[in-house]
Amino acid sequence: MKLLFELSGEDKILPRAEVFALFDEYKIILDFKTVLILNIKQNDYIMMDKRKFQYLGLTKYVSEMLAVAEANKEDIIRQVLDLKLELDEAYTNKTLSLCVRCKRVERSEKSDIKCLELEQIIGRIFKDKGFKIDLVDPDIEIRVILCRDKAIIGRKISSYEDYEGVPYGAMPFFHPGIIKPKYARVLVNLCALNEGERLLDPMCGTGYILIEGFLMGLEVIGSDIREDAVKGSVKNLNFVSCIKSDEFIHKNYEYRSYHFMRSDSRNLCFKDKTLDGVVVDMPYGRSSPIFGKGIKELYQKSLEEIYRVYRRRCVIVSKDNLSDIAESIGFKKIGYYEQRVHRSLTRKILVLA
Ligand SMILES: C[S@@+](CC[C@H](N)C(=O)[O-])C[C@H]1O[C@@H](n2cnc3c(N)ncnc32)[C@H](O)[C@@H]1O
Repeated sequence: MKLLFELSGEDKILPRAEVFALFDEYKIILDFKTVLILNIKQNDYIMMDKRKFQYLGLTKYVSEMLAVAEANKEDIIRQVLDLKLELDEAYTNKTLSLCVRCKRVERSEKSDIKCLELEQIIGRIFKDKGFKIDLVDPDIEIRVILCRDKAIIGRKISSYEDYEGVPYGAMPFFHPGIIKPKYARVLVNLCALNEGERLLDPMCGTGYILIEGFLMGLEVIGSDIREDAVKGSVKNLNFVSCIKSDEFIHKNYEYRSYHFMRSDSRNLCFKDKTLDGVVVDMPYGRSSPIFGKGIKELYQKSLEEIYRVYRRRCVIVSKDNLSDIAESIGFKKIGYYEQRVHRSLTRKILVLA
């Protein structure tokens, strides 16, 4: 089967990097700027934990691709009429409700179809087939993506609106300079760990990165040199685990634990190769001070320690490009991305194995 990812347009590179980190073994069959289609074996899809889709920080919708038509009314109508069997066979015993959403992501001189008109035309076809139209809470959402001279038709599997994060505004401990939750989720996804694996953030600050890892089912461990940060992170994780406890029990999550300690990232108290992944957001020397003999010494010693304790993958965020230091220690660079935060700060994101 083919999966259609509609990526957020707020960053050019990170959304696709996030998808590739999680679905790297699948072949890309179509790659437009904000639309990606991957070929996935039917069996893999059946076995796949579908929550993975909701955890994507920079993907808006994931759909099962049903057809690709030329972006003209005649071909789209023909393809939609052909979809009858696939949709009907799966749901013979119930009248399902359905809505059609159309979105143009890239213009084409060849196509002048209007999205609203297309939604109405396709909606009418499905109504004639016996579906009930429900624009508010439909059982099935058909998505039509107009991209250049193609119309990609899919059935929505998940949307960013399905993701129930935590009310960050109500969190007990806050500090300026935190990474936004959805970007924290991207960082955890770039680390590509499996449920139950151990994630360390050795400069955890408010614990926001670990909160996202925790919500994804990882065992999270945080440390920071500042006592107030450690205590604050514990309060935040207690708050999250408390408000999410019913949901965790309901969804039968097995691995839900978090541990915090005060520690210097240049001298970590873990045995060699005992943590599956590390995600860290290094101090910028602005709102978060630098502890140590200077930023260079902090980078060098902290990366050496991270290298000693990690097993699979690390994601290092910094105001500087730490590729050379990391590679000289022995890490293998598998990704490098830049995220512009504002005029005077561009985060450098390094993915290491
Ligand atoms: C950019 S902040 C991390 C922010 C965090 N990602 C968040 O969302 O709150 C950097 C953190 O590194 C910590 N830090 C600085 N030097 C450290 C060291 N030598 N060992 C451990 N933590 C250190 C600071 O106390 C600060 O909390």
